[in-house]
Amino acid sequence: MKGLILAGGTGTRLRPLTYTANKHLIPIANKPILFYGIEALRDAGIKDIGIVLGTNDPEAVKIAVEDGSKFGIRVTYIFQGEPKGIAHAVYCAKDFIREDDFLLYLGDNMLKRGVKNLVEDFEKTKPDASIYLCKVKNPEMFGLVELDESGKIRKLVEKPKHPKSDLALIGVYLFKPSIFKVIKTLKPSGRGELEITEAIDNLVKSKKNVKYRIVTGWWKDTGKPEDILEANRLVLDDIKPTNKGKIDEEVNMHGRVFIDKGTVIKEGSTIKGPVTIGKNCEIGPNTYIGPYTSIGNNTTIRNSEIEDSIILGDSNINCKKKIVGSLIGRHSIIKSYDKLPHGNRFIIGENTTLEI
Ligand code: TTP
Repeated sequence: MKGLILAGGTGTRLRPLTYTANKHLIPIANKPILFYGIEALRDAGIKDIGIVLGTNDPEAVKIAVEDGSKFGIRVTYIFQGEPKGIAHAVYCAKDFIREDDFLLYLGDNMLKRGVKNLVEDFEKTKPDASIYLCKVKNPEMFGLVELDESGKIRKLVEKPKHPKSDLALIGVYLFKPSIFKVIKTLKPSGRGELEITEAIDNLVKSKKNVKYRIVTGWWKDTGKPEDILEANRLVLDDIKPTNKGKIDEEVNMHGRVFIDKGTVIKEGSTIKGPVTIGKNCEIGPNTYIGPYTSIGNNTTIRNSEIEDSIILGDSNINCKKKIVGSLIGRHSIIKSYDKLPHGNRFIIGENTTLEI
């Protein structure tokens, strides 16, 4: 079985971060989102993986993943270009997949328990397709599956206005190569995309065997800033305490904290886990880092309070106001301004959100 991970798209909902970066490289607990997907496939025994790239910083993905050997896999890059839909991205990989069964994984998805169960089911029973489903509170935002009384799939619908089900398709699908014939017959949907939901619905309509499994453990689609922060909380909940850095004697440490190489925590600071701090950071003096915070490499934080936030890295913070629930891009500076006139001063880019 081969793997196909999608890392194209535009990531509109994550602007401004996605003006300068591919969203799949945004770190969750200091590890790019994409790496969680790669590891999930590898741990399910899938070693031959295609990564589909779009126009949003494809080179950065290649630099981060290289040839895949550091994960114990072999990577083939496939260029999709403009995002014309998930089914279109799959079709771009036709020459890579050839005659093999394959697992399609949307690169912005994260699953606590990975994909092993679904792969094992598929290998045992060899259906025409197999999908993972999850009950959601806002079904109108998802591709949905309607089941009949006996629990068999009746039909699939993409983001219906009046949902008849709360079972969403998540970003993991298993297919036989025969899916390419179905994709070839698709026409662009109302939003101009080739929809994988429609391709699977066509399989159901033609009485093919489409199986499903309900996801156990958490699943997160990291498309929006609040989803990224939630995924960060979920991953940090399992973090193991580690100290590779240097902690001053007058520092209060509570809970599970990971501190990477070259990082210094200075006097008068409190770190309350779960927290992860990357390499070569300088935290303190007089700084509070609260639960569910991830701090990327080369960040300096002085005389500040931060919690429930992600700082991507290479940033400088020295701010009297407490920072909470924030997603802070690379090379950011946040500092107090004590001169007159008092007030908030901003030098910010397009599509920035500030809540003061
Ligand atoms: P989406 O989150 O639906 O789209 P997006 O990433 O462009 O984000 P936004 O809606 O905020 O603009 O995409 C789901 C996943 O599929 C994501 O990992 C990107 C990937 N994808 C492609 O690789 N190619 C495509 O044509 C599309 C639509 C998505």
